[in-house]
Amino acid sequence: MTDVTFQVLPGGSLSGAVRVPGDKSISHRAVMLASLAEGRSEVRGFLTGEDCLCTMKAFRAMGVRIDQLAETHLRVHGVGLHGLQEPAQALDLGNSGTSMRLMTGLLAAQRFPTTLIGDESLSRRPMRRIVEPLRQMGAQIETTARNTAPLRILPAGGGLSGISYKSPVASAQVKSGVLLAGLYASGRTEVLEPEASRDHTERMLRAFGVTVDAEPGRAALQGAQALHASDVEVPADISSATFFMLGAAIVPGSDLLLSDVGVNPTRTGVIEILQRMGADIELLNARRFGGEPVADLRVRGRQLHGIEVGHELVAAAIDEFPAVFVAAACARGETVVTGAAELRVKESDRIQAMCDGLQVLGISALAQADGARITGGRLGGGTVDSKGDHRVAMSFAIAGLRAEQPIRILDCGNVNTSFPGFANLAAASGLRISVRDAA
Ligand code: S3P
Repeated sequence: MTDVTFQVLPGGSLSGAVRVPGDKSISHRAVMLASLAEGRSEVRGFLTGEDCLCTMKAFRAMGVRIDQLAETHLRVHGVGLHGLQEPAQALDLGNSGTSMRLMTGLLAAQRFPTTLIGDESLSRRPMRRIVEPLRQMGAQIETTARNTAPLRILPAGGGLSGISYKSPVASAQVKSGVLLAGLYASGRTEVLEPEASRDHTERMLRAFGVTVDAEPGRAALQGAQALHASDVEVPADISSATFFMLGAAIVPGSDLLLSDVGVNPTRTGVIEILQRMGADIELLNARRFGGEPVADLRVRGRQLHGIEVGHELVAAAIDEFPAVFVAAACARGETVVTGAAELRVKESDRIQAMCDGLQVLGISALAQADGARITGGRLGGGTVDSKGDHRVAMSFAIAGLRAEQPIRILDCGNVNTSFPGFANLAAASGLRISVRDAA
């Protein structure tokens, strides 16, 4: 177990041009769909964060040949919908909820059993949300008594049947897991959601030749459709770009360009939230990488102001709230977030982790059941605990730009799950960060 601490000195500003690593959601899906396709697919811009490496290792363990031609360039030799083989051991998915929930859907349809395990954080996260609809389709899945991993997935005796499932949560992981199971099910599989979650699965399935009937908040497909190999160019991850957007937005006078950022409308909630707080963010050079919209983002710093963020903006900014909380701490006035109870079941309880840390820095941050009330003010310094949550760690690192004293952030090793090289890239752009790794 390594014990990684970030130390951030106060002040500085971010400037220049930055290309953050590839999108995590799209990288997972690229490995999964290319593995299930007929033929060879190339993936460029793949995120080599630990989460996506867990997905890659899991598919290799099920007999898929994946050549890493260069750091972020994969060649996947697809085995077809029915070509996966039983792995010799339990599949260890580390910290990755996306791997676990999507693969549960896919593996529920296989003719062999599998066991899925994860780290301490993943082993605490709710799995009932994915297991429940899959059981309705005929899947045989065993969980712990608390509906958590390890998951034991057994072959479904009579095969899976399509369902129309009204999900109580807006979750792309649930929707995608059910749709992947639906590829193997008889008839039609449909998922309806209370708010539109990210739609990368639907877009990429289409790129692989599957007919998907989808609109915001609903997605459906017919079973037994073959996937055909397709090359994937992965955009830079808007969730990783967010830390740099935040850093430029909170320091008046900053001017930063973020290139090739994925701007799928189901992911751009953070841009809208920051703009409503008064941030100067421009989308330039709009284009597409395959089925995904991409743009360069120019961010200039100026004084932000507090706003109300309600449930309608939550799904499209779900991973960005730790950064939004820091923006709120730097803004004039109060920011109130509601409708975001999902934040409590992420890699950590992000409402609590962020409010606790902001309070250490001298900010009034009141945790509420489904959000928080944060009053902007002067950020002091001190030691904050990231709770092993990558996005909490990176958000507090960026807060250093506006702090008056050094900030020490504990338990930052999981930054590598989504953003390998974060500290170096941030330092090169102007953040005064150093890393202590007591391996
Ligand atoms: C993801 C969906 C979201 C998000 C996660 C990645 C995905 O989770 O928080 O980081 O790739 O499908 P939920 O589906 O639980 O909202």
